[in-house]
Amino acid sequence: MADDASTNPGLLRTQAYINGNWVDAVSGETFNVDNPANGDLIAELAYCGTDETTAAIEAAEAAQPAWAAKTPKERAKYLRDLFNIMMENQQELARILTLEQGKPLAEAMGEIAYGANYIEWFSEEAKRIYGEVLTQPTGEKRVMTIRQPVGVAALITPWNFPNAMLTRKIAPALAAGCTVVCKPASETPLSALAIAELCDRVGIPPGVVNIVVGNTREIGAELTSNPIVKKLSFTGSTGIGKMLTEQCASTLKRLSMELGGNAPFIIFEDADLDLAVKGVMASKFRNAGQTCVCTNRIMVHESVKDAFVEKLLVATNALRVGNGLDDGVDLGPLVSAKAKKTVDEFVDDAVAKGAKVHEGPATPNGACYSKPLVLTEATRDMRVFSEEIFGPVAPVFTFKTDEEAIQMANDTEFGLASYFYSKDVSRCWKVAEALEYGMVGINEGIISNEMAPFGGVKESGQGREGSHHGLDDYLEIKSLTFGAI
Ligand code: SIN
Repeated sequence: MADDASTNPGLLRTQAYINGNWVDAVSGETFNVDNPANGDLIAELAYCGTDETTAAIEAAEAAQPAWAAKTPKERAKYLRDLFNIMMENQQELARILTLEQGKPLAEAMGEIAYGANYIEWFSEEAKRIYGEVLTQPTGEKRVMTIRQPVGVAALITPWNFPNAMLTRKIAPALAAGCTVVCKPASETPLSALAIAELCDRVGIPPGVVNIVVGNTREIGAELTSNPIVKKLSFTGSTGIGKMLTEQCASTLKRLSMELGGNAPFIIFEDADLDLAVKGVMASKFRNAGQTCVCTNRIMVHESVKDAFVEKLLVATNALRVGNGLDDGVDLGPLVSAKAKKTVDEFVDDAVAKGAKVHEGPATPNGACYSKPLVLTEATRDMRVFSEEIFGPVAPVFTFKTDEEAIQMANDTEFGLASYFYSKDVSRCWKVAEALEYGMVGINEGIISNEMAPFGGVKESGQGREGSHHGLDDYLEIKSLTFGAI
């Protein structure tokens, strides 16, 4: 293990967590998890596949009736204890996260708190799973509904938020009475295994939470085809989401899909430009541009474009890029050299089609470091208009009318996050209603929190995470019709 990985060994787990036990792959094979900041090996992990996944699913099935039979208050207490222990271990969890993912330590600390907030929120919501008494269809009948857990849920999570994307799924699942089998991204499995360790420490019963790591194709195939699994929740790209949806078709699983985005950030002529720059900096450069709600297309009214770009360049050039463990760093490396190459290709395409690149801040030379850049003179034929950049590149487009801005914003198959800045209340309502997106930030660049429903429309997915709606994805509605009243 590399020197900078010398962390609390108790939280740095390298085996799968199945039925309350830490287990190696049946084959004895392992895979490496590296630090994107310097390529150092952090740890070798069990390379699990079909057999271990089947075992995890069967453990989750065996544990589910007893877990669902616990009172809501009992489940709430386990989740509250998990929240507490996560926050007690915030520093260690953040350090593991930065090592494997690259984001600055301060941002990783923020992610642990953000992730823990979902646990806290759903520990409270666990006690609020209500049914209904409905209008009676005839004098002799009465209809009621109850809501029951879906059953065993498979959770597949991405590398950009290795902690929070998992807690956002585990928490509502457990609150609802489901048990889970989780497959974290192979780039960042250590944060997920650390959560399993904490679940173990607070005494969550064996089989309720299971985590398998290793062969993505085999694990994914088993999770999507095994009939015991009743639900799949996935966060990741639209392409993989569609593939998993097809794989789930034969057993018709319930699906929650939190997929790609192409967020517009519209700055109207009456916007507070300083506030708008603050919003762009937060929503564009958070996690070095690697979030599915990151601003992808900045659209500025032509009358304020020059003033806005001047301010944006000052803010962008003040960013500090480096190893996430170093003090004062705003942006770490991208998750992999491949990710950096993809971002470079977006810039090359834009430049070939006439975009102007503005010099960004000094950036280390490592294979995964991507320089934060502003591109002006951006046009609709460029890839940055239609595809998710997932990196620290900020293309600036212009528009003349509100109608044009809305049309440009909606001209995409994606519909996750969108943002706009204006001081006109009437315009705010009209634009918010016209944007074909699941989430709209109005004079605000950070829209994710445990109280707000998170999710998209169009090809950005289905279902909602967080908020009181987040429980619905893990519950079935059953109607009870009483006759002979
Ligand atoms: C994501 O990128 O998938 C989630 C981002 C967030 O929770 O804000």
